[in-house]
Amino acid sequence: MADEALPILIADDQRDVLEALRLLLKSEGHACKTVGDPAAALAALKGGAFAAALIDLNYTRDTTSGREGLDLLKALKQAEPDLPVVAMTAWGSINLAVEAMRLGAGDFIEKPWDNTRLISVLRNQIALGAAARREQKLRAENSLLRGDADEEFIAQSRAMQPVLALIERVAPTDANVLVLGENGTGKGVIARLIHRRSKRAERTLVKVNMGGIAESVFEAEMFGHVRGAFTDAKSDRIGRFELADHGTLFLDEIANIPYAQQAKLLRIVEDGEFERVGSSRTLKVDVRLIAATNADIAAEVAAGRFRKDLLFRLNTVEIRLPPLRERREDIAPLAQSFLARSARRYQRAGMRLGAEALRALEDYPWPGNVRELSHVMERAVLTADSDHIAQLDFSLQPSLAVPPGAAPPASMRLDDAEQDMIRSALERCGGNIQRTAEMLGLSRAALYRRLEKFGIRAAE
Ligand SMILES: Nc1ncnc2c1ncn2[C@@H]1O[C@H](COP(=O)(O)OP(=O)(O)OP(=O)(O)O)[C@@H](O)[C@H]1O
Ligand SMILES: [Mg+2]
Repeated sequence: MADEALPILIADDQRDVLEALRLLLKSEGHACKTVGDPAAALAALKGGAFAAALIDLNYTRDTTSGREGLDLLKALKQAEPDLPVVAMTAWGSINLAVEAMRLGAGDFIEKPWDNTRLISVLRNQIALGAAARREQKLRAENSLLRGDADEEFIAQSRAMQPVLALIERVAPTDANVLVLGENGTGKGVIARLIHRRSKRAERTLVKVNMGGIAESVFEAEMFGHVRGAFTDAKSDRIGRFELADHGTLFLDEIANIPYAQQAKLLRIVEDGEFERVGSSRTLKVDVRLIAATNADIAAEVAAGRFRKDLLFRLNTVEIRLPPLRERREDIAPLAQSFLARSARRYQRAGMRLGAEALRALEDYPWPGNVRELSHVMERAVLTADSDHIAQLDFSLQPSLAVPPGAAPPASMRLDDAEQDMIRSALERCGGNIQRTAEMLGLSRAALYRRLEKFGIRAAE
């Protein structure tokens, strides 16, 4: 939405002034909304967005003090802090102009005005307002966006070929895509890949974890809110849909959307229209949706926990990612890629995977799929004594790794459990010793003693 194309709001109680301004601005290519008093100006702002407001400070109730105009200025700035307001005063009332600037007017014009100056003042203010809005949007984006621009996508197996073909076909279209697959199969990777291959690639990809939003703030998160919409709403806030305007919105873990909130998504998913919480002004966005879930979404619909109509709008195209155990040809290239990545990260160049270790990887059922494989490889790099990885330990999810009816895991020793805890705490703290020690309730010295005892290399 180009702010420059929005109309200009003009408030003055003299008809001829309104008409003259309207004609002047029209000749400059600006549409106008003209109103005769402060109340009408505020009503107009509720009903639509404006590039700027040009307001007289003197109205009939009190034609000289400017009080009414200043009150209007305050109310406008309160309703829309980024709206540029230009005040009009009578010749010589500099004090009033100064007061207006103090209350947030961007500039002022003395009456009778000079056409050239009026146009240039308005133009500057409109540009500043647009920049302020862009900046607000960017700031919000930066805190949300993920930076992984060129991640590797490995898919050599036969089972992945139809998936690749489908991605190639649908990525450039604006079709909504639903990505299905078990935990860690790469649904997030696919969403980013589709965005990168789409015509929206230069725009933003905004991700929302639907499982991570408290129900009470769901609407505000998704649609934004206006200042004062509720107690904590101290300023306007842009929602995720607006942030993703002209880009892609990735709705992750959609099975976790509370049932009551699903209905609220229907309209925006269907035609892009919505209102910010606390505002009656309808906004419209152009967003391509990618959704993902590891749940059996058809079963969720059958059980009455997920709305069928919402599903039908999200799954224009469905991509099913096979679990890793059904694409074993991908295990070796994935393992090598993760090995290389971790070796780089932990400065252990020259690490190699032995044949036996590789066979073990290919035989393992991988309940945690690709993510589990990446963790196993990272740990292998961290804990290997030499550059040759002969054996691997699959203790991430030992209970799942054991087929039903098989012998219990080889080790149930406390020492092993302790090692596991330390390793996973280290991982969660990104290798930071201080934080890991705090998480485990140990002193740094005690943690170091254990690292030494178990031969765990910290990443620091
Ligand atoms: N085909 C692939 N090539 C390279 N790396 C991959 C591939 N698939 C997944 N990964 C990596 O595996 C990890 C898990 O992938 P991702 O987070 O996309 O899975 P997911 O299906 O979204 O998992 P979850 O269900 O837990 O959200 C990531 O680190 C990702 O980079
Ligand atoms: Mg994911």
